[in-house]
Amino acid sequence: MNEISRRRFLSRVTIALSVFIGGIVGLPILGYLLAPLFRAQTDDLVAVGAIADFPLGETKLVSIRDPSPLAWAGQTADTALWVRRREAAGPAMFQVFNVNCTHLGCPVNWQASAKIFLCPCHGGVYYADGTVAGGPPPRPLFEREWQVAGDSLRVRQAPLPTSHK
Ligand code: FES
Repeated sequence: MNEISRRRFLSRVTIALSVFIGGIVGLPILGYLLAPLFRAQTDDLVAVGAIADFPLGETKLVSIRDPSPLAWAGQTADTALWVRRREAAGPAMFQVFNVNCTHLGCPVNWQASAKIFLCPCHGGVYYADGTVAGGPPPRPLFEREWQVAGDSLRVRQAPLPTSHK
């Protein structure tokens, strides 16, 4: 009788441990599978500033909230775009770049004096128009669709692309 009780106890402990370990392993997998249900809409145009904020010939950094992260992404959803004012008006007025390098995603810096974007991670270099000047980036900076609405510049929200898309 005592032997059976011990066996029963050990089997319950084994089941409890199995459920516990299964939970530890399974919850992140479940979170990964359910994550798309909690993602925000990504096709909105959002205002990033007044047209007058972007002087002709200059490239300026604007802050934006990345629409692709999860509802609980918090501060990690804050990102930025580089806005280049090419012309005074017309369809080629702006170029709007994702801040992330197309190599491994580090934020690139605009060097106004040299008129290039520099990536601090592996030395990627881009010309002012976003094309690759040197280093490991496999393609130009990703551009965002933009629109002028009244006196403000609006940019289409988009999830962060990766270099293999
Ligand atoms: S992440 Fe920019 S060069 Fe590697």
